[in-house]
Amino acid sequence: MSALLSVEDLDVTYRRQRVLAGVSLTAGTGEILGIIGETGSGKTTLARAVVGLAPVTAGRIRFAGTDLTGLRGRALRDWRRTGQVQYVFQDPLRALDPQHTVATIVAEGLAVAGRPVGDRVEWALSQVGLDPALAGRTPGRISGGQRQRVLLARAIAMRPRLLLCDEPVSALDASNRNHVLRLLADLRTTADVTVVVISHDLSSLAGIADRVAVLYGGRLVEHGPAEEVLANPRHPYTALLTASAPSVRRDHPIPASALRRPAGAPPVPGDGCPYASRCPFATGACATVPALSTVDGGRAVACHHPFSLPVKETTP
Ligand SMILES: Nc1ncnc2c1ncn2[C@@H]1O[C@H](COP(=O)(O)OP(=O)(O)OP(=O)(O)O)[C@@H](O)[C@H]1O
Ligand SMILES: [Mg+2]
Repeated sequence: MSALLSVEDLDVTYRRQRVLAGVSLTAGTGEILGIIGETGSGKTTLARAVVGLAPVTAGRIRFAGTDLTGLRGRALRDWRRTGQVQYVFQDPLRALDPQHTVATIVAEGLAVAGRPVGDRVEWALSQVGLDPALAGRTPGRISGGQRQRVLLARAIAMRPRLLLCDEPVSALDASNRNHVLRLLADLRTTADVTVVVISHDLSSLAGIADRVAVLYGGRLVEHGPAEEVLANPRHPYTALLTASAPSVRRDHPIPASALRRPAGAPPVPGDGCPYASRCPFATGACATVPALSTVDGGRAVACHHPFSLPVKETTP
């Protein structure tokens, strides 16, 4: 599977505060990549960097061979107009203009890009399973689940090749959550898109992601095929995450010693492993940043003391 999106050694710095450091990952054409990490770990920043909304200070973002980080001025505007990459905001209420109808909202991107609307609104609404009769309503007069779908429809209307969905289900109840997750999985075939789904909830991603990338404190700690990573986590933080998602299939028990819960917000990237201060297995070696190294089967882990397989009830 060729990489449609490739992020290489990405740094993002807000007002001298580094919030992403050395992040590298890829999303292959037609796959669903899940990005997981707790609040403040940099998930939204990563997605915003891909669409040019975060200050990239180092590294590269390539999309279908185009170096997006190299685009400036007119070239950047022209690229945006193509609508090939769409970012679906984390908060539907804030992202939708309360005065506009669903139809206007869904056609917005096309109108801004000066592209014909035609029957694209009806098509996009049907793709996300929304009744066309809702087209005349405003966001205040539809449900939360419907608002989430309107956001998706607005993005899909642009016929993007890549859809970045930021916490698409976190505000939804269980039944709506499952519908929207299924929808994202279906859009890959019905609308021919590659999907990046961001979530702090691993159970939501487990059922649909082909691959997952785990962020902690602004750094990528583990990356690989979803089933492999979740069933056999190699990084102690991934192990902690999977242990708190009981529905996720596991091949081996998580060592009890890995389950000490980290407290507070994750740190910003510094000189050492971001997880070291909370990691039960940290040693002096963890004062330096572990390189992201490929371990097996397309898995990559950034840890000085990764779990070996199978995970046993012992200190690695
Ligand atoms: N515009 C900004 N200016 C300064 N700092 C920012 C800005 N946006 C985000 N940050 C900081 O960057 C870090 C990562 O934030 P980000 O929003 O990417 O986290 P997240 O993983 O999406 O969290 P959540 O799960 O809560 O949405 C946080 O420490 C945050 O305070
Ligand atoms: Mg976020």
